[in-house]
Amino acid sequence: MENNNQHYYSEFPEVKVRIHTISESLRKHLYIFKTITGVFSFHKIDLGTKILIENIVIPEEPSVLLDLGCGYGAIGIVLGYESPESLVYLIDINKHAIWCAKENIKINLNTEKKRIRILHGNYFEPLKKKNVKFDGIYMNPPMRKGKKDFLRLIQDIPNYLKSKGSFQFVIKKKMGAPHILNYISKNYPNNNIEVICKRSGYWVFRFFQVN
Ligand SMILES: C[S@@+](CC[C@H](N)C(=O)[O-])C[C@H]1O[C@@H](n2cnc3c(N)ncnc32)[C@H](O)[C@@H]1O
Repeated sequence: MENNNQHYYSEFPEVKVRIHTISESLRKHLYIFKTITGVFSFHKIDLGTKILIENIVIPEEPSVLLDLGCGYGAIGIVLGYESPESLVYLIDINKHAIWCAKENIKINLNTEKKRIRILHGNYFEPLKKKNVKFDGIYMNPPMRKGKKDFLRLIQDIPNYLKSKGSFQFVIKKKMGAPHILNYISKNYPNNNIEVICKRSGYWVFRFFQVN
């Protein structure tokens, strides 16, 4: 990938389109994901994503949940399957990812499309006019864009969390997980942050909205 339209986070990645199929057992359920070139980790589920999914806390009661930067939809689809009365949003900037996420909802959550909302756009922008807040926001962030992009995004997170809502995300230790932990602990002293899992160089975080 060479120019700006060839990243997995480009709006329209300029790549020769090839379709792949991934089958993956997550939290003891088998999922099938259709993916295409130009989408993050299209050839197999990313290890960070897998570790995140295996360790997140998913509310059983009806909730409003968000898979932010959904890629082909693995996180949002697991949320939809494991929390069958929740409304689940999936957002991504990459149009190829949005296409895959739509296909994967049909494959894995066939009968439940009404409570799944897939939106294209820049982080929270597609929600601006919707007045929606979340019980849970889940993310494997695009750290290749740099820590600054993620730290800017974090400033917006509390505006989209309900009271007692949580932001659960994964970051590789060598991509700056300890720095992110320090930053959040210092800058959000009224909110709680905990590392819920450290595995294979990945740290899974849970950031709580206290009030
Ligand atoms: C590390 S990938 C994770 C993808 C997917 N959640 C997974 O775990 O396989 C980050 C995702 O964030 C998306 N992304 C990057 N910048 C974004 C932005 N400004 N708004 C929405 N999505 C964005 C990318 O297109 C990519 O799909």
